[in-house]
Parts: sequence; C-alpha cells; structure tokens
Amino acid sequence: MNELNFVVDSAKEAFEKALTPADLENAKALFLGKSGRITELMKGMAALPVDEKKSRGAAINLAKQAIEAALNSRRQALADAELQIQLQAEALDVTLPGRQRGQGGLHPVSITLERIEAIFGSMGFEVAQGPEIETDWFNFTALNTPEDHPARSMHDTFYVEGGSVSAPNLLRTHTSPMQIRHAVQHVKQHRAAAEAGQPSVGLFSGSMPEIRVIAPGRTYRVDSDATHSPMFHQCEGLWIGENVSFKDLKFVFTDFCRTFFESDDLVLRFRPSFFPFTEPSAEIDIQFQTGPLAGRWLEVAGSGQVHPNVIRNMGLDPEKYIGFAFGMGPDRLTMLRYGVNDLRLFFDGDIRFLSQFQ
Ligand code: PHE
Repeated sequence: MNELNFVVDSAKEAFEKALTPADLENAKALFLGKSGRITELMKGMAALPVDEKKSRGAAINLAKQAIEAALNSRRQALADAELQIQLQAEALDVTLPGRQRGQGGLHPVSITLERIEAIFGSMGFEVAQGPEIETDWFNFTALNTPEDHPARSMHDTFYVEGGSVSAPNLLRTHTSPMQIRHAVQHVKQHRAAAEAGQPSVGLFSGSMPEIRVIAPGRTYRVDSDATHSPMFHQCEGLWIGENVSFKDLKFVFTDFCRTFFESDDLVLRFRPSFFPFTEPSAEIDIQFQTGPLAGRWLEVAGSGQVHPNVIRNMGLDPEKYIGFAFGMGPDRLTMLRYGVNDLRLFFDGDIRFLSQFQ
C-alpha cells in the first residue's frame, strides 16, 4: 500500500472512531489542520524536482479530497444520530388518552326544580325565594301553628341564634313561610300602588291582582333516620284570589304532574289529611298506569285550602279572598322520575352517580 492510501485509510478510521462532533473536529485537525498529515506532505513537495512535483501534487490532492469526503459523510452521520436521539427524547406518545376538560352539569334536583319552575311558569306562577333561617312567626305562628300546637313536634328542627328565648330563630322546616312572606309583600306593593294612584300590575282584573307563586328551596328537619336527610327540598305553591277553589287545585296539580312525568294517564288521589294552615287539607298521591311503579300510590305533596287565619296573617280579608296552597317534595319527584331508590344519593356528592344525569 502506498503512503497516501495509508493516510487516507487512517483518516477514515479516525473519523469512524469519533463519536461526537468535537472528537471528529480533533481527528480532522490531525489530517487537514495546519500541521496535519496532508499539510506536512504538501510541505515535503518543496524539495522535489519540478516534473515530480506535478504528479505528486495531484496525488496528494486526490488523497485530500478523499479525506474531506470521508469527513463530510461522518459529519452527516453524527448529525443524523444526534437528531435521532433528540427525536426519541421528545417523542409524543399519541396513544396516551388526551387531557379532557371536565364538563359541569346541573344536579338532578336542580334539573327537577328548573322543570317545576318552567311548568308552573307556563301556568302564570311567579317564582319566589326566601330565607332558610326563619323566624318562629313565619315558620309556625303565622301559619296557624301557635307555640303549644302538637303539629310543631313533627317539625322539630335546628334552632339558631336570634329571635326570642321562647321563639328562637330556626332553619325552616318547610317552604310554607313563603306563603306569608310573599303574600305580605304582594299586598304591600298593591296598597302602595293604589295610594299613589297607580293601577297595580298583575295577572287578573279585580280589586287586587291574584297571588300566584311557587317557592322552591331547601328545608330542614331533625327527623333524619337511615332513609331521610336532615336537609331536603320543598316547593311551595300558592294561589289566592277572589274565586279560587279546591277544583282549581285539582286541575293545576293534575296538569302539573302529567306534564312533569310526561304521562297523560297518570291518576291523582286527594287523600284527606290535616295541616294547621289549610282547611280542608289533603295529601296528594299519584299513580302511574305503566312502567315499574304502575299501580302503586305514591305521596308527592301536602295541600289544602288556605286557612282563614293564614289569609288574615297575609293582611287580607278571609271573607273576600280564598285560595289553595300545596307543598311538594322535589327530591321525591326526582327519585320517581329517574328511578332512584335512595334519597341520600343526591347529597353524597358522588360524581359517578351525579354524572349519569348529564
Ligand atoms: N308544609 C307542609 C309540609 O311540609 C306541606 C303543605 C304545604 C301542606 C302547603 C299544605 C299546604 O308538610
């Protein structure tokens, strides 16, 4: 092997051994640098006679080109390898599940409340909200349930600060206090408008616009056992006018239930009952004709004709004004509509349960 071939082969070998670009540059200096082998060979030509110089020069040049070609291809190979490593390090695993944006939704009882509001809204009922901390007066006394009334024992509740010693404030045991609160407000507005000589705006003509309202919200009782919850929902309904009868209650509530459950053949039963604030009073039961609950009577509300004492506490003359009230359980309605068998599931906050309603 001649000397030049040997130099080219050693350069190729040195380049192959270089594992990083820096190693490669060092190896290059050994052959192509200022005092590298090729440069030395060029210098050595000075001593040669002219005719030899030409052929020697051409041969050294060929060797130099071969070395440069080897250098470039090794450079490329190292760059490719580096890119490969980088690509692997930054690789995205497209088989991983994507990050999902959690989607919120309404609680099933909220869905029911919206549904109740929409249906009664279509029948001309307003929606009113009231406080969950009530006074003894609104929760009991104004509703014809004086301090010593036995009906109070069924409504034991949580007593909170405020009020008087004999009549402390409490967490409301039902939404019925809203009957009084809303009616008093309604009457006050009407009287103020009349005094100012303005016609009061309302649903019907007559000396005063009718009161037609529902009042949904949270209520509290300590009667919790394994299947109850100390907090539950109610929705009050009240319709007071000059000529509102029990017949209207039957019509309105039947229409509501059939619309709510989307069942035209749903049957209602008004079972005689007692509430201090209504007379006569009735428990309302419903019966499905088809489906898993068909044939069973299911209690959904208490109701009755508003007691004259309550009408009086609204600031109205019971000889002139008459009407009905009802109080239903949206939690119960939600259970019946979706076939949920345990009330407590609504309040456990278990996302696996709640997400089924979205
Ligand atoms: N407030 C009663 C209850 O909680 C229900 C009811 C409301 C009854 C209105 C009659 C009229 O049991």
